Amino acid sequence: MDRDYNLLIEKACEASRKSYSPFSKFAVGAAVLAKSGKIYTGCNIENSSFGMTICAERCAIFKAVSEGEKEILAVAIYSPNKDDCFPCGACRQVMYEFQGEEEVCIITGNKSNLNIRKMSDFLPFGFKI
Ligand code: THU
Repeated sequence: MDRDYNLLIEKACEASRKSYSPFSKFAVGAAVLAKSGKIYTGCNIENSSFGMTICAERCAIFKAVSEGEKEILAVAIYSPNKDDCFPCGACRQVMYEFQGEEEVCIITGNKSNLNIRKMSDFLPFGFKI
């Protein structure tokens, strides 16, 4: 299994360039490493009806799941506007849903300063049915 987190943050950075964020002007990109070894990317997509906005992380995770993935291993998050772009609460819960036996790694920062943390650092005592 490829665990090239530098590549993952690079993919998240590339994805952030596709961000549609005319309202917040806060671009975010995410890259998900799924159990199959494939990488899925996403960006935040805003809407004039603000509540319809989707975060980069959920965009990438939903792309993965809609392609048949059931388990994610790592999520890299990048924003040109922030050194460490942490996932919002909703995205943490969605990540937790698709965590398998192995704890999800959450990667933030950039190529020269990668921060690697675990799912439980962001969401201890997560909820799952
Ligand atoms: N956003 C993300 O895409 N991911 C995060 O982890 C935090 C927030 C987006 C949502 C919205 O388009 C913009 O950033 C400002 O909140």
